[in-house]
This record gives sequence, C-alpha cells and structure tokens, in this order.
Amino acid sequence: AEVVIVDSKEAAGSLVATEIVELLDARADAVLGLATGSTPLPVYEALRVQLAGRDLSQVRGFALDEYVGIDPQHPESYRSVITREVVEPLGLDPRRIHVPNGAMETIQHAGDDYEAAIAAAGGVDLQILGIGTDGHIGFNEPGSSFASQTRVKTLTAQTREDNARFFDSIDDVPMHCITQGLGTILKARHLVLLAFGEGKAEAVAAAVEGPLTASLPGSAIQLHPHATVVVDEAAASRLA
Ligand code: F6R
Repeated sequence: AEVVIVDSKEAAGSLVATEIVELLDARADAVLGLATGSTPLPVYEALRVQLAGRDLSQVRGFALDEYVGIDPQHPESYRSVITREVVEPLGLDPRRIHVPNGAMETIQHAGDDYEAAIAAAGGVDLQILGIGTDGHIGFNEPGSSFASQTRVKTLTAQTREDNARFFDSIDDVPMHCITQGLGTILKARHLVLLAFGEGKAEAVAAAVEGPLTASLPGSAIQLHPHATVVVDEAAASRLA
C-alpha cells in the first residue's frame, strides 16, 4: 500500500475528499464505499465544504456494515449514522445509498442481497476504511477469511468495548453485525484506509507491514493493487 502521513485529521479529510471530488467530476454516479465510526468523519466534513452547492443526486454508495437486530431508527444504527453524516448534509438520494439490512426477519439472505446490489451497481469505485484496534476492517474480526463475502459476524469483546462510547452502556452494544467480507472489500477499485492516534499504530503497522494473516484482517489490503493508507504521525509511529 502507499502510505501518506499527514499532520492532522483535517488534512487527511481534505486529501481524501479531494480524491472523491475528482472521482465525481469524472462520473456523477460514481459508487462510494462508506465507513462509519469516528475515523471517516473528517472526510465527510471536508466533502461538505468541497462539494457545497453541487448536485449529488446521482451519487451511489454502499456502507460497510450494520449492527444486527438494532432498530434502524436508533441514532447509532449505521443507517442513522450514514443518513446524518453523509446523506443529509451532502444532499444525496437516500434510495441510492445502501446499508446492509440488519433486521432479524431477513438476515438469512441479507448478505447475498447486499452482494447482488453491489454487483448490480458495477462495484465500488472508492472504499473508505477505518481499522479497529484488533485489526478489523469493516467488521471482519480476526479469523475472517480473505475470500469472505457479506455475512453475519459476532463482534469481539474488544470491539464492543471500543464502540460502547456510542451507546448508554456496553450492554446496549449489539452482539452481532452484518459486514461486507474481506473478499467484498478487495473488489473495490481503490481502497483508502485512514487511521488516527497512537491506539491504531500497532494495527496499522501490522496491516501495512506485517504478514498476510486472517488474524489481522487489515493485512488483506496488501493483496490490493491500489490501496492508500492515510495516517497521522501517531498512527504511523510503529511503521518501520
Ligand atoms: C465502520 C467499520 C469499522 C471501523 C473501525 C474503526 O464502518 O467498519 O471497521 O472503521 O471499527 O472505528 P473508529 O473509526 O470509530 O475508530
């Protein structure tokens, strides 16, 4: 992967936003791969500035993941987060922005349905990624196959602890998620992984320089011909 070290989250945000604007200049209906969590927020903030006043109604998007069994109206469902942080501020067409369906009733075929929707859109042009402290991308926790497709996974105790900050208590963090697989993510035409802070340094070094291993799902980016890693100094601190 190409590693870009930046001074701040804001600098990372505007760098990646510029890349996305170029993509949209070339094709108004480009397909964006959207991530949730804290990491991509500077990108979304920069997009609001760089795309202000633009007609973005043709843009298509696919989120990486969703909690299983969460009410889609819950403020921390990834459907809600994507609506609040991306769809509404940028004026995207909500019908063109997809989030895996975490409803229990349809969970059996939700993964296959999502794969089919991505394929029907012609695949993802640019996939934004964060990385978990345990090395996960999407919610592909350690042990995920590099060939995995969108499916239900169990969140690790570490990830539930990391995400408890979004909920009233850790007991409210769902146990399961539905996530694009590593195989799904690797099909995107450009991967852009962002990471900020000392807490991500070890996972970043292992993903970029460590052995290819299912124990560190982020290492899958080494298999991708066009992967960019944008990190601040702290997140880069364990790189050789
Ligand atoms: C979110 C996702 C996760 C996060 C990761 C880092 O859609 O797929 O892989 O990117 O858990 O989370 P933050 O950015 O909150 O540190």
